[in-house]
Amino acid sequence: IDKSLEELFEEKIANEIRIEPKDWMPDQYRKTLVRQISQHAHSEIVGMLPEGNWITRAPSLKRKAILLSKVQDEAGHGLYLYSAAETLGTSRDQMINDLHSGKAKYSSIFNYPTLSWADIGAIGWLVDGAAIMNQVPLIRTSYGPYARAMVRVCKEESFHQRQGFEIMMTLCNGAPAQKKMAQEAFNRWWWPTLMMFGPKDEESPNTEQSMRWKIKRFTNDELRQRFVDMMVPQAEFLGLTVPDKDLKWNEVKNGYDYGDVDWEEFWNVVKGNGPCNKDRINTRVKAHEEGAWVREAAMAHAEKRARREAE
Ligand code: ACO
Repeated sequence: IDKSLEELFEEKIANEIRIEPKDWMPDQYRKTLVRQISQHAHSEIVGMLPEGNWITRAPSLKRKAILLSKVQDEAGHGLYLYSAAETLGTSRDQMINDLHSGKAKYSSIFNYPTLSWADIGAIGWLVDGAAIMNQVPLIRTSYGPYARAMVRVCKEESFHQRQGFEIMMTLCNGAPAQKKMAQEAFNRWWWPTLMMFGPKDEESPNTEQSMRWKIKRFTNDELRQRFVDMMVPQAEFLGLTVPDKDLKWNEVKNGYDYGDVDWEEFWNVVKGNGPCNKDRINTRVKAHEEGAWVREAAMAHAEKRARREAE
């Protein structure tokens, strides 16, 4: 029997067969993927900035070397993801222009400042912890290039999370002033990290369709709940207090009840009015402009080589 392209696509989704770049796909599926993958790529690239701020100020040579390579990993993740998005027919220039013009979104979390060294620990522990919670299921996302990119990204993210936890553990086992620094960083990053998972399910316009197409494997609230349940025991182990007076074990649901996220703050940051939004974009634009000569040199070199090979 002759199946329509759409039926074949639906059949692949139902049977967990990956969709590949040359396969037919609904326009909206392509659009959703470009949106999500490019936002994800931008997040990795902008995500280099809050931590980059501390490379020159890391407390030891060892910490500096670790932080440098972690930030480089994030650049790599961004490039992987731009490549995955390009397989859907959008150019990298277009995506980068959209980031620089303020049109494209990237994760709200990277618009908060890193005020002390403990923030670097908190980012590794909490932000990378949330990233793993969100991204491990994306290894099973329905679009092949995105799913494959996630394998390596998640391995590296697990290492990042361990190094963040280790910074927190060192601070928590240190002098009272160090422990205080760790608690203050925890207080600053806890709620913004919960916002990383996106709006509540009933206010998330994209979740339903993305779940049907198996682009997303869990909803925003499901992942947020899992994250809270994973982190509370880790905070207890560190001897830190979760900054949420409503946090309570719920026997029936076998998970924690937690307080209300400040969604007004979330949307404010997403719309560009967070503490560091403007600074982040300005820094990116400046870096891009200052790197123009590298791109020009690479192009000139590629052209010269192509000419030589043609001779
Ligand atoms: N920061 C900024 N924008 C957000 C955030 C956030 N934390 N959460 C949701 N949004 C945006 C969505 O992009 C969407 O905007 P758009 O429709 O204009 O594109 C809008 O808010 C509504 O949200 P949802 O309908 O829930 O959007 P979606 O289904 O795409 O879910 C999510 C959002 C969970 C972030 C999803 O896109 C995802 O899993 N992305 C891949 C992971 C990722 O990007 N991580 C980045 C941070 S981790 C890191 O880089 C270390």
